[in-house]
Amino acid sequence: MDIVEEIKEIARRAKEQVEKINSASDLLSWEKSVLGRKSRLSQLMRNIKDLPLEQRREAGHIANQVKQELQEIAAKLKSSLQQAEKQKQVDVTWPGEKPQRGHLHPVSLVQRELEDIFASLGFIIEDGPELESEYYNFDALNIPAYHPARDMQDTFFTVGGDVLRTHTSPIQVRAMQKYGAPLRLIAPGRVFRYEASDASHDFVFHQVEGLMIDKDISIANLIAIAKEFLSRIFTQDVEVRVRPGFFPFVEPGFEMDLTCILCQGKGCSACKRTGWMEFMGAGLVHPRVLEAGGIDPQEFSGFAFGFGLDRLIMLKYRIDDIRLFHSGDVRFLQQF
Ligand code: PHE
Repeated sequence: MDIVEEIKEIARRAKEQVEKINSASDLLSWEKSVLGRKSRLSQLMRNIKDLPLEQRREAGHIANQVKQELQEIAAKLKSSLQQAEKQKQVDVTWPGEKPQRGHLHPVSLVQRELEDIFASLGFIIEDGPELESEYYNFDALNIPAYHPARDMQDTFFTVGGDVLRTHTSPIQVRAMQKYGAPLRLIAPGRVFRYEASDASHDFVFHQVEGLMIDKDISIANLIAIAKEFLSRIFTQDVEVRVRPGFFPFVEPGFEMDLTCILCQGKGCSACKRTGWMEFMGAGLVHPRVLEAGGIDPQEFSGFAFGFGLDRLIMLKYRIDDIRLFHSGDVRFLQQF
């Protein structure tokens, strides 16, 4: 047989064989037999140099072409066999990878806990606008424009004359107008103060307002409710005490302290060795505020309180910088 014919025949047969190959080891022996040093093709290629010039050129060309083609076929098959092998290694019983999911912010978490506690005590959860009118934020709360108490809270005003609410107390009057008496609510929300920030002050923070209006509500009710929800949120017995404090919308008004959560009242650096921590403003709702809400102060009385939610969370989780809440720092947030 003519050498060119023989090379073509080798190629044809090799291609036929390779079709049936489905393992790496078969491919290896096919490669060896077709392209190896002892293969017929290699042998023929070694003989080409002895051929007459004309024939040598043609045979050389064909032989190189065939060799290259077979090498390419081998490479392609090799990679597709490897691919198949990898797929065979997929263990379908292997547990799936859990996609990372976000979770609630610590402020939302504790807010929900508080909402559950107060709901169980018969309180409704009320909401109000963050962009508030001057009337609800101040006037309706017995803080007229000329009153020096306006200076107690540094305020963001809008060009239109509204305010970013400086506290959650405006929800008191809004709710009285909406529901009348009797009434029990808490109102958690964001509040805004035009102040410099530091480790314990942020210009955006959270408050929880509490309001209970009924016949014959007294300070005793306020103290009982405060002790109850604080003991439940801190999961330990908490005592409270009241000192006189001034807020135009309550009379009498108080500052309420609680037993230091860090030392259980024994006295530590956090409570300046007193065993007590300042916690919230509170008092009996001022008759003018009840009137603004359309409730007859002769018939009903009530207590109100307001505390910083961020500060409560800081105590609960021993967090030392309020600015972490708005930092968006995942290392902080992941711990909750
Ligand atoms: N609104 C007051 C504050 O922001 C807190 C407070 C609420 C005081 C209700 C008394 C009664 O400081």
